Amino acid sequence: MALCEGRAVPLLAVLLLLGPGATGQQLSFTIDHVTLSVLPGADVVSGTNVTLRCQVQVSHSAPQWLLHSFSFLLEQATEVYAKNSSESQVDYSLLPARAAHSGAYSCRLHVLEKERSSPELRLNVSGLTTPVLTVTPREVYEGQDVMVGCHAPKEEGALSLQLDVNGERRRSFPSTPGGTDIALKMDAPGHMTLRCRMRLLTKPEAGESLSNAVNVTVRELMATPTMTFDPASGVVEGDFLWVRCAVPGFSELPRQESARLEIYLTRGGVS
Ligand SMILES: *[C@@H]1O[C@H](CO)[C@@H](O)[C@H](O)[C@H]1NC(C)=O
Ligand SMILES: *[C@@H]1O[C@H](CO)[C@@H](O)[C@H](O)[C@H]1NC(C)=O
Ligand SMILES: *[C@@H]1O[C@H](CO)[C@@H](O)[C@H](O)[C@H]1NC(C)=O
Ligand SMILES: *[C@@H]1O[C@H](CO)[C@@H](O)[C@H](O)[C@H]1NC(C)=O
Repeated sequence: MALCEGRAVPLLAVLLLLGPGATGQQLSFTIDHVTLSVLPGADVVSGTNVTLRCQVQVSHSAPQWLLHSFSFLLEQATEVYAKNSSESQVDYSLLPARAAHSGAYSCRLHVLEKERSSPELRLNVSGLTTPVLTVTPREVYEGQDVMVGCHAPKEEGALSLQLDVNGERRRSFPSTPGGTDIALKMDAPGHMTLRCRMRLLTKPEAGESLSNAVNVTVRELMATPTMTFDPASGVVEGDFLWVRCAVPGFSELPRQESARLEIYLTRGGVS
């Protein structure tokens, strides 16, 4: 059905009709049909722009304009969109559709005291967006924290986010829309590969998606001192002997660790 822009005057006429004088008026009309269709189709991949189109046909005894109240319902319960129009067609668009939008939709039309609903139409949006994992810093000493973020700003719905360390499920992120950050204590030295995995809390059947992998190096807090003598040899009784004790890499140690460092000089196993 062709739509035109110049409907303001007829709509005004409807509003006047339905005003104080309208109650006494005998309006004879029937809602012949209410049809819901979906473009480009009912099975789409996440990211597709989807339009739900509700088309109605109302017959009247006299050529008058009636206000059409359209509602789009999800699972017969949640009103996702409503519009009052004098037109016979209303669109509701998902720009773009995400897995959380999957479900059974219907369209309901109210005209004065009459109501009619379309048959249900099942929309199936498959796939999830890829979450993005960020880790800072990527090199720490054992016992230090890294900040781990797992974000999926384009996904709709409540997310369940898990952190994997070397392929093993390690932590859950708090359920925050779009993702969140947590502090993770790196308690064992070595190379760690971190990833996060995402599911929809309300639609686990949508599957899961894995983030990029980030490698983190956890260095052992090992301060092995070295000792040197001056002179290196040929010391006789009564000479001064300089003993130099050094900790290689001292300046690279985290400050709270280097501050705790203690060095003892022992001889024959006794302090
Ligand atoms: C449509 O009109 C009805 C009756 O005037 C009103 O109750 C309702 O809020 C309107 N809905 C929208 C979406 O404007
Ligand atoms: C989907 O809709 C958005 C918003 O209207 C638009 O910017 C985008 O180009 C559309 N994408 C496609 C593939 O048509
Ligand atoms: C939705 O689409 C996916 C992929 O095409 C399919 O595996 C799944 O069975 C469909 N689900 C429903 C409820 O139709
Ligand atoms: C991360 O580490 C794994 C295993 O050590 C290695 O195979 C992979 O190439 C590394 N990835 C990056 C991005 O450095």
